[in-house]
Amino acid sequence: MAEIIYLNGQLVPRAAARLSPFDHGFLYGYGLFETMRAYNGHIFRLDRHLARLRRSAGMLGLSHDVIAALSLDKGDRSLGSACIATLEANKLRDSRLRLTVSAGEGDMTPDPGTCSQPTILVTARSLVALPPQKYESGFSAIPSSLRRNARSPLSRLKSTCYAENILARMEARAAGCDEAILLNEQGYLAEASMANIFLVRGGELITPSVESGILPGIAREAVLEMAQTLNIRTSERQVQPGELAEAEEAFLTNSILELMPLTRFEGKPVSTGRPGPLTQKLMAAYRRLVDEATR
Ligand SMILES: Cc1ncc(COP(=O)(O)O)c(C=O)c1O
Repeated sequence: MAEIIYLNGQLVPRAAARLSPFDHGFLYGYGLFETMRAYNGHIFRLDRHLARLRRSAGMLGLSHDVIAALSLDKGDRSLGSACIATLEANKLRDSRLRLTVSAGEGDMTPDPGTCSQPTILVTARSLVALPPQKYESGFSAIPSSLRRNARSPLSRLKSTCYAENILARMEARAAGCDEAILLNEQGYLAEASMANIFLVRGGELITPSVESGILPGIAREAVLEMAQTLNIRTSERQVQPGELAEAEEAFLTNSILELMPLTRFEGKPVSTGRPGPLTQKLMAAYRRLVDEATR
């Protein structure tokens, strides 16, 4: 079956989709995206993804049309409906979806005022999840040589300016690791190249604050909510990098991975080098949350 994508209001076969060479998303990385996971035909926390995109679109100054289309009260005309329609058109149940919004076609100069119509794209593919053994052995990570800029608004957005994350991931791959952990410009822990980070110390769940220059992840938010329900103490704050080396447990989160134990850092095991009890408890709780939300 030919892959169907949603582009600017229409579902079209992938081969028929055309984008302008003057799209400011392409020319200047002036755009945003959301990566979402669908389970059993339901997109997990679609409303939260749309809300983040809406907030981010406002911060980037994208057109009011985009922001309006992201409102949940738009019913069939909302971008949420576009995501569901793309999933259904491809007959997908367990899927990785991407909603991309850019300022659209404009002048060759970096003046978004010349962009009249945003580009809106939704793609969905079958999800290729990592094998269960990977969740048992966990991820290995290196410290990245790149730094997050806590003062840059881009650090808090899922922007199509993603090359820095790709460079950090390439550093990890070159070192034979799964991920790279970035500090911010002040030397505090920020996040992984494509995920948020959590540590456990003294039974407390610790994660860098949004002010540390991180993407406020949807999976991160779910973990913080679950922790509250499970009476686990949490702290969102500036985290010293040394705290990771001393952590009892660590894990990474994103919408596709869910929770992934971080078991090796800088070539050494994190604590026992195995997924810790709190991590496992939260992994199971996330599964339950997903099951309830996508039944
Ligand atoms: C840099 C970065 N931080 C954090 C995340 C986690 O975000 P979410 O939980 O919304 O998937 C991602 C997701 O890809 C990311 O790219």
